Amino acid sequence: MSAFSRSLVAVADSVPVRRLVMGTRAGRALAHRFVAGETLDEAIDVARHLNRQGLVVSLDLLGEEVTEPGSVEAAISGYEECLTRMAAEGIAGNISIKLTQLGLAFNQQLTGAGLDRLATAAGELGLSVTIDMEDSGYTDATVGLYEAAQRRHGNLGLALQAYLHRTPADLERLANWGGHIRLCKGAYVEPPDVALQGKHEVDAAFARLLEFLMADEGVMPAVATHDDRLIDLARSRAQRRTEPFEFQMLYGVRPRIQRELAATGHQVRIYIPYGIAWYPYLVRRLAERPANVGFFLRALISR
Ligand code: FDA
Repeated sequence: MSAFSRSLVAVADSVPVRRLVMGTRAGRALAHRFVAGETLDEAIDVARHLNRQGLVVSLDLLGEEVTEPGSVEAAISGYEECLTRMAAEGIAGNISIKLTQLGLAFNQQLTGAGLDRLATAAGELGLSVTIDMEDSGYTDATVGLYEAAQRRHGNLGLALQAYLHRTPADLERLANWGGHIRLCKGAYVEPPDVALQGKHEVDAAFARLLEFLMADEGVMPAVATHDDRLIDLARSRAQRRTEPFEFQMLYGVRPRIQRELAATGHQVRIYIPYGIAWYPYLVRRLAERPANVGFFLRALISR
């Protein structure tokens, strides 16, 4: 992550900036580019629209770092409602969850129980659950909870971040449990002893991990990037693969390439966030592409 992006994340943490973004039309308009809306109805509308374009989806009820059991219960109920709606409306997709939304910041046992509930609910409807990877303070626990749940339920997948030094070892171990592995670059601010810092190093690590993942026929690779070079690499490795794989991209990022890949016969899954807790998600999207901040500032000035 660049120095500018790191500063952006630090500034965004302040209360006045959060208020400025969340409380203005310009801020909400910017969020609207990346977030389907604040309600499940809006998320389902977007999912239906993308399904019609030949894209599958992963719905993410926004929320993270919750600190009390009531919020965990609310997140689980929200996801159960989401799963039920997806099945009832025949939406082609699954859900993506964050374990800190299920209490990982304060009670790992509660998180494991919540994960079991969601994996069971999804399994009964023939759906799957992908676990997002959050900042490195949670990696160990997330990998452990994924492994246990995947062994029990068999309908899960996990995001792994190419920038972490530990990821090659995690990937090798987790490949034994089937499921799907979403390979992404990594979106959090991390120190050099934990993660690669430069874009070129991260891209090279992604390429190495991608080679390993695409060669493993026991796992479903989910190639989560909008980077043309890595997309091309995945397509070329796919020619040697007999089992399926998919591309994954974020709602609002490079929609044309999403449709083009689907039109050439690839499975493309779009990650659709929704809900009221959109601010931290938006900050990560801005940090990935600081030019997005320019759009916000121009919209703010021209109010
Ligand atoms: P890169 O950042 O090099 O972008 C390539 C091109 O894509 C850019 O040149 C630009 O055109 C476009 N682009 C990328 N980001 C953009 C943005 N925000 N706005 C506008 N254009 C943009 N991370 C994580 O730590 N844990 C996780 O669980 C996940 N989950 C996840 C799911 C899915 C489906 C995706 C696609 C990504 C994630 N990520 C994630 C985020 C990921 O780690 C990474 O930060 C972003 O995908 C950006 O990296 P790219 O691979 O797209 O490359």
